[in-house]
Amino acid sequence: MKPWPYPLWLAHRGAGKLAPENTLAAFRAGAALGWRAFECDAKLSRDGEAFLLHDDTLERTTGGQGSPAGQDWAELARLDAGAWHSPPYAAEPLPRLAQIAAFCRANGCALNIEIKPCPGTEAATGAAVAREAARLWAGAALPPLLSSFQPEALAAARDAEPALPRALLLDTLWPGWPDTARALGVVAVITHWRLMDAALTQQLHASGWRALAYTVNDATEAARLIAQGVDGVISDAVDRLGPGSGA
Ligand code: G3P
Ligand code: MG
Repeated sequence: MKPWPYPLWLAHRGAGKLAPENTLAAFRAGAALGWRAFECDAKLSRDGEAFLLHDDTLERTTGGQGSPAGQDWAELARLDAGAWHSPPYAAEPLPRLAQIAAFCRANGCALNIEIKPCPGTEAATGAAVAREAARLWAGAALPPLLSSFQPEALAAARDAEPALPRALLLDTLWPGWPDTARALGVVAVITHWRLMDAALTQQLHASGWRALAYTVNDATEAARLIAQGVDGVISDAVDRLGPGSGA
């Protein structure tokens, strides 16, 4: 296998527990603790802007309502994506992927962009996020790692920007996943931490894929995964584990 250029520890949704998830404030909070790699969730507005949001709807983490796929970026950009977290973050906006790219490039941070399409927009989101990522990281030493639970989104990303590295996300080991991973040309498979035992880590490595696990918030589990040779640990526990632990 080629050398793996991404840091072992990645902060989940920015550092999305300390500050509102998937906002620039969350990235700033993680970077301030020493984190140099992040995971985030990207989707598209109705008019095709790539921005960060986890859910298919706006209610939980913004002051908006309904699906963001039905709203233009100009409307989404006005939403408060921070007040739900805590008062100091009131008025924190949803970030465009372009703002996150600028932050990561300026601060020497690696990024794993999870392509998180609203239902029915899998291919469009995969292609658009890949094209935007290729543009934003043009000339960068380390491109973002594009991941998704949706093979259709990864196929569209591969077809749009074949040179960008891809990873298949698995919350179960569904039948045929290795053939799908192979067909998608992934460099890594990222599974729920409960699935990533030593045998699966070895199986992935034997297939030429890196092995990463999400969302690892327990120190004992993190130590087990690292001892068995995983290549990446995605965590919410940014102030207790990894670069934020002082270890
Ligand atoms: O990318 C790994 C992890 O973020 C997947 O789960 O639901 O937190 O996006 P979720
Ligand atoms: Mg995610």
